[in-house]
Amino acid sequence: MTLKEALETKIDDWRPRTTRLLKEFGDVKVSDVSISQAIGGARGVRCLVTDISYLDPNEGIRFRGHTIPETLAMLPKVPGKEMPFVEGHIYLLLTGQVPTEDDVADLVEDLKRRRGVPGYVFDMLRAMPLDTHPMTLFSAGILAMQRESAYVEAYNEGLGKMDHWQPTLEDALNLWARLPELGAFIYRLKYKGDTPIAPDPDLDLGGDFAHMMGIDDPYDDVARLYFILHSDHESGNVSAHAGHLVASALSDVYYATSAMIDGLAGPLHGLANQEVLRWIQGVMDKMGGVVPTEEKMKEFVWDTLNSGQVVPGFGHAVLRKTDPRYAEQRNFCLKHLPDDPIFKYVDVLYKVVPPILEEQGKAKNPWPNVDAQSGVIQWHYGLQEYDFYTVLFGIGRSLGVLSNIVWDRALGYPIERPKSLTTAMLEEIAGV
Ligand SMILES: CC(C)(COP(=O)(O)OP(=O)(O)OC[C@H]1O[C@@H](n2cnc3c(N)ncnc32)[C@H](O)[C@@H]1OP(=O)(O)O)[C@@H](O)C(=O)NCCC(=O)NCCS
Repeated sequence: MTLKEALETKIDDWRPRTTRLLKEFGDVKVSDVSISQAIGGARGVRCLVTDISYLDPNEGIRFRGHTIPETLAMLPKVPGKEMPFVEGHIYLLLTGQVPTEDDVADLVEDLKRRRGVPGYVFDMLRAMPLDTHPMTLFSAGILAMQRESAYVEAYNEGLGKMDHWQPTLEDALNLWARLPELGAFIYRLKYKGDTPIAPDPDLDLGGDFAHMMGIDDPYDDVARLYFILHSDHESGNVSAHAGHLVASALSDVYYATSAMIDGLAGPLHGLANQEVLRWIQGVMDKMGGVVPTEEKMKEFVWDTLNSGQVVPGFGHAVLRKTDPRYAEQRNFCLKHLPDDPIFKYVDVLYKVVPPILEEQGKAKNPWPNVDAQSGVIQWHYGLQEYDFYTVLFGIGRSLGVLSNIVWDRALGYPIERPKSLTTAMLEEIAGV
């Protein structure tokens, strides 16, 4: 069964569930909203629906019901490699089914056929100033490809609502096939003197990305791990929500992905992984490159807090324990780069930061998040231009965001439009 056929079956099974909930139970309450939630970024308001992943505050993310270690163990592996095919993860996110080796092989071939970023995108990027942030180049490159949208074409021809998911899936598959090339092109344009490396038709998505970046093995496995770990984190985080919101206006996935990349570019969200590296470099400079004692590191952390900055890589809006995405990358570091000096810094931070954040008493979660560890691995394998790290996050995050949008269309979710109140109205509700 092809991916599309498997998905169609799932969608047919799923639709009556959504319809029944809406028709028979539409008035059942799922959440109340307090004033602190209305002012405070809707934290904890339960008003989004997704079946692609679920984030438990203590346990961390589950993709289609599976924890990260389960996901990595059960997806078909690239022969001779430690990590699974990213394509298999796409199959899992979209259908909820663990793919067979044949399912994955079909999808790998399908995505290979869809490769090829149009030349005009490269021309446009080359015309932009070289000091433009890679996330801006990435977002602009995606937006420039909007004219390729199969969804827009079908929509303009009068596509029925029940079929909206089909050309959306086309667009998503095309974009997934092209984002690694676009990302690698930006890297080599900006940091390697405009020396792009052509895709290799024999390689899977993760392997081809490493090849186009010009970084040797085991960076291919790093890429696979990284894309899978960053793929989805429910739909309320800024990037996923931005993508979902824009797509809810029936904007195509090129618009939606460009918007989600813009949200990911914020330092409180995806950009934190670049911030972690920048911050650690600052510590290293101060310490003369020597791994500091815990006492010295504590001083540096307090200096950061006392100057009004956040400690990047720690804390989370939902999680209340160490992020399993951090833990998985830590395992990778312990296995492949235990003596890396930056890893040693990160390890000392793991020991000293949580008690300090607890003592300070502000952060609800003192534990490390995904970004505390990811830059270390990139740095170790030679990707030291940390401005680029969030592009990697963006390629990964597109897997979940676009899977969600395909399902949004399949289930006919409407345009999103929460209601606003004025401050005076809140005061009236509060009785002040
Ligand atoms: C992720 C993050 C944005 C979540 O924000 P949040 O949901 O508002 O977090 P909290 O409810 O715990 O915040 C309460 C307070 O603790 C502070 N806090 C949270 N994490 C902190 C950190 N790592 N360092 C210092 N202070 C922190 C917040 O800034 C806030 O302070 P304020 O009341 O003065 O505004 C926040 O933890 C943060 O800024 N972390 C550092 C950046 C980062 O790693 N981002 C990547 C996330 S995957």
